[in-house]
Amino acid sequence: MTQKHKKLFIKTWGCQMNVYDSNRMSDILSSLGYKVVDSPVDVDMMILNTCHIREKATDKVFSELGRLKTHKTEKEANGGKMLIAVAGCVAQAEGEFIMERAPFVDMVFGPQTYHELPEMVLKANGNERVVNTEFPTVSKFDHLPDEHTIEGASAYLSIQEGCDKFCTFCVVPYTRGGEYSRTPQEIIAEAHRLQEQGAKEIILLGQNVNAYHGEDGKGKTWGLADLIYKIAEIDGVDRIRYSTSHPRDMDDDLITAHGEVQKLMPFLHLPVQSGSDRILEAMNRKHKASKYLDVIAKLRKVRPEIAFSSDYIIGFPGETEQDFEDSLALAREVGYASCYSFKYSARPGTPAASLQAALVPANIATERLAKFQALINEQQAEFNKTCIGKTLPILFDRKGKKEGQIGGRSEYFQSIFVEGNERLIGNIIDVKITDAFDNSLTGDVVTLG
Ligand code: 5AD
Ligand code: SF4
Repeated sequence: MTQKHKKLFIKTWGCQMNVYDSNRMSDILSSLGYKVVDSPVDVDMMILNTCHIREKATDKVFSELGRLKTHKTEKEANGGKMLIAVAGCVAQAEGEFIMERAPFVDMVFGPQTYHELPEMVLKANGNERVVNTEFPTVSKFDHLPDEHTIEGASAYLSIQEGCDKFCTFCVVPYTRGGEYSRTPQEIIAEAHRLQEQGAKEIILLGQNVNAYHGEDGKGKTWGLADLIYKIAEIDGVDRIRYSTSHPRDMDDDLITAHGEVQKLMPFLHLPVQSGSDRILEAMNRKHKASKYLDVIAKLRKVRPEIAFSSDYIIGFPGETEQDFEDSLALAREVGYASCYSFKYSARPGTPAASLQAALVPANIATERLAKFQALINEQQAEFNKTCIGKTLPILFDRKGKKEGQIGGRSEYFQSIFVEGNERLIGNIIDVKITDAFDNSLTGDVVTLG
């Protein structure tokens, strides 16, 4: 008799690390008979993998839980069972509160404990409610299955977690804990497995990925650059990226790797947060704008075609018109291929949250953000336009929204959609770019002969 799969739906908010975690949760749960479905209807388990980094995170989770409660009640009225779990950084920060306010939630667990899902599910199936927000002494990475979920031909590989930097606005050091680096052996073995399972691109992940320092057990400490050289040796891995970095950890080895490793893509997301030295200091970033520009210049020297993206926070407490102008000026000087900008949001428990008196009025912050985003949109459109007429290698990793369309990414991480056969997904193929939009490109697949 073949056993029927149980349906699992995971809704993921936030960063790529959460996407990696969601994939790993589904890998673990598949051994318990769960299979991921792409609609939340009539499921046996629903996991909300949450993000706490900016505003209204908790509100969003509660409004989603409200909707799920109805599904659960309906399912139970028909004699079924549906487990509801809240995972990720909101779970880590607000575990008990969620359990109290949403008594129909079965499991709450933080980002460091999902390898314990089999035990948690067993308890929840026995009608025991589970809260698991410890920072366990054993690493979850030692207890994850060898099979990986890979979307398209691009795979995430978590190499480092947590952060010791304590930027004054950020919850990460509290929700993800201190810096932890996996061993080089584990990471290289995982990279090989990913390649064997179809990955052509590996994106190395960490909250502070370039602070990576893994001990190999033979007395050598590996930095991110060492890992990149080693992974570049794997046949079949054609593209390597890493995210997210801190300017202070862009050491010379890593910069040199950008010049020497062709598989390392010529695109780097390097958050700076502000262009004002005064604000950078208040943010505890421990570097000046000039240091950031210096890193950018060094990278451009070794890899002239490299393009950049960044994160900026607009309206940090105490930000004056001049500070904001400094951020605009820095963005103008760099010239981004893309860039994220966020209105400052006070996160409970962070040092900046106590700077109430210096809060920038909401209307001013909104105005500044719009102005900043207008500049970035201009830069992005401009960068995309420079690609028209060029032939770019594209890694196709998904179906397009329209029938007969497929989607992929350029080396510069631009989204691109073309008319093409689904069989091309999973391959790197040359595309002649014919048109550029604000957020994507289009073109024609270059045929041979
Ligand atoms: N308010 C606004 N943006 C924030 N970020 C982190 N914390 C906050 C906050 N409290 C932004 C930073 C970071 C990105 C992931 O989110 O720019 O790089
Ligand atoms: Fe947060 Fe700063 Fe650490 Fe990045 S470096 S995760 S912004 S504390």
